[in-house]
Amino acid sequence: MHESNEDNITEAVLGRVRGASDPRVRTISEALVRHLHAFIREVEPTEAEWEAGIRFLTRTGHMCSATRQEFILLSDTLGVSMLVDAINHRVSAGATETTIFGPFYVPPPEFPNGADISGHFSGSPLYISGTIRNVDGAPLAAAIVDVWHSDAEGFYDLQKLDQHPDHAGRGRFRTDTSGSFRLWTVRPTAYPIPNDGPVGQMLSAQGRHPYRPEHVHFMIQAPGYRKLVTHIFAAGDPYLDSDAVFGVKDSLIRTYQGHIGGLALDGRTMSGPWFSLHQDFSIEPSA
Ligand SMILES: [Fe+2]
Repeated sequence: MHESNEDNITEAVLGRVRGASDPRVRTISEALVRHLHAFIREVEPTEAEWEAGIRFLTRTGHMCSATRQEFILLSDTLGVSMLVDAINHRVSAGATETTIFGPFYVPPPEFPNGADISGHFSGSPLYISGTIRNVDGAPLAAAIVDVWHSDAEGFYDLQKLDQHPDHAGRGRFRTDTSGSFRLWTVRPTAYPIPNDGPVGQMLSAQGRHPYRPEHVHFMIQAPGYRKLVTHIFAAGDPYLDSDAVFGVKDSLIRTYQGHIGGLALDGRTMSGPWFSLHQDFSIEPSA
């Protein structure tokens, strides 16, 4: 067969990729060709539409930098990141559920328990504490707890590096002998994902808002256990039902307890409004 036409081109391409020596490459390549061709047959794009699609992906790549990952935003907003997460983290009963990693993680500076990570962020004080346990309930000492979140205007430190070169709202803690960690920071807020690029244009063309409900990110690691990447969402947030990146799970919604003055949980004397968030996490063995 020399001629490729609308009827036989899919089989012709599949025939070429079947020569892949790595069986996983072959499986992925075949599925890619089958689904991509099915997409084109369903949509029947004009040539101008196909060129627009190529330009969209090109602009998505050009938008990426050391601190901006437009392809992660694209994956997140199309629900692909959450689907990959769900497939890879079918957690057993008792383990804390996972959610997406997001584009705003960088390895954080390490702090002692009780430290304040708010840096140049301003806002209402928030005390975060919790215990890391295995699924049998035993506390895990020396587990690594990475925490990161936005400021009270909805921006991560990485989005304001030109004004503030130092990190803020992110830190690494190690659990003590009772498996606990604690820190001070300031309360974040709901925020729009960066929507000044091609992904923002896609959302607006699709009639979607770019907001994520208020949350704090956690990544927890301990030797012999699966890495846990998750968020804790603020109960009552108006975007819990329409997270732009589909990251919400009911088990990850908590009340950020409001307080006025008084003694904080670590004995600090407070004045004015502040909040506390207590969250225990259960992690699974890695094997
Ligand atoms: Fe976030």
